[in-house]
Amino acid sequence: MSPIAALSLPDPDPNAAAQSRRLCARIADEIHLAGGWIPFARYMELALYAPSLGYYSGGTEKFGGAGDFVTAPELSPLFADTLAAQVTQIMARSAGQIIEAGPGTGALAAEMLLELERRGALPEHYMLLELSAELRARQRATIEQRAPKLAACVSWLERLPQHFSGTVIANEVLDAMPTHLVAWREDGIFERGLAAEGEYGFRWQERPATGALLEAAGTIPVTPPYLSEIGLAARAWVGSWGEILQQGALLLVDYGFPVRELYHPQRSRGTLMCHYRHHAHDDPLYLPGLNDITAHVDFTAMAETGVDRGLSLYGYTSQAQFLFNCGITEVLARIAPEDMTNYPRQASAAHKLLSPSEMGELFKVMALGKGIETPLIGFGRGERSHRL
Ligand SMILES: C[S@@+](CC[C@H](N)C(=O)[O-])C[C@H]1O[C@@H](n2cnc3c(N)ncnc32)[C@H](O)[C@@H]1O
Repeated sequence: MSPIAALSLPDPDPNAAAQSRRLCARIADEIHLAGGWIPFARYMELALYAPSLGYYSGGTEKFGGAGDFVTAPELSPLFADTLAAQVTQIMARSAGQIIEAGPGTGALAAEMLLELERRGALPEHYMLLELSAELRARQRATIEQRAPKLAACVSWLERLPQHFSGTVIANEVLDAMPTHLVAWREDGIFERGLAAEGEYGFRWQERPATGALLEAAGTIPVTPPYLSEIGLAARAWVGSWGEILQQGALLLVDYGFPVRELYHPQRSRGTLMCHYRHHAHDDPLYLPGLNDITAHVDFTAMAETGVDRGLSLYGYTSQAQFLFNCGITEVLARIAPEDMTNYPRQASAAHKLLSPSEMGELFKVMALGKGIETPLIGFGRGERSHRL
């Protein structure tokens, strides 16, 4: 039995199955046009972002209980309310503007605005960097419903701006960027990609790695045979802020590790992970367009790329340490323990955000920026235990 069959995942409804088949045909066309092979990174880009067919552009429910996974801002307002402390400090030292990349349902934006208003620190502009028209409509609806009086300062960006000062927030965005798959073998370094098979199928095929991928792979100390990912798109995205950011900081929150842990001998099959209706599995070829595909972030590479491109590393720590430093316990203490409708739910969300066995240790927070002299509050304590 295949690992996917063993999971007995729920069948997609006929419309979803038909959408996935259309996406397979679109990917197969591209493979034929490319001469019989595409890199996995291109497959992942199409599977997640092909217009109207990809996972994030195809209109299915992704986030929350009815979707495929739950992110920190969807779990509880505690995440946004606590992160707001760090955002307030960065804005006070740079400019009163925020760009949130990949804002999902808009839950983080709505709660962040409400909390910044409570703190007397509303930004002049809150910009949502969103590629999908369907998600833009969903974000607008969330903000108008939860923070109607603050919707006037919200606008949308379809691409990165030329220049920006203020705070950039990216929660679980880098892990959703297309990643390259690399196989280190005794006889060389290979890039994994896909060839078409039958009408709607694909099969893995490797080619010798070349160019920037080979260069990056050559610097990673692994013992062959070893299979893993290299996120060139995430590196390029972080690097591009070196030119764009005039003053302020990027807050990158994601699951990942420094290079020595990410490419540890025990992770010799990589970190690629797929999510389908709250089941995690590791087959990115299963129902393309209906599954989220992610890979852990190499935070050492993010820091090195940022610094190479003119940013400074302001901090790197676990999500738990960051949220403690930003005052999550005080935020939770605003809810009276006798409030039996709210307190147990928020206390359990706090446990999930902070516990080392849940999101507390696996998720990291990194700040990269320019022109801020004061140490950032989120990284004041505990940083030494999280070295890059
Ligand atoms: C896992 S979701 C996270 C959504 C949200 N931040 C949250 O925490 O609930 C990843 C999001 O990143 C977005 N994304 C991926 N690459 C992006 C890019 N280059 N620019 C902006 N958003 C991007 C995807 O479209 C998707 O909406």
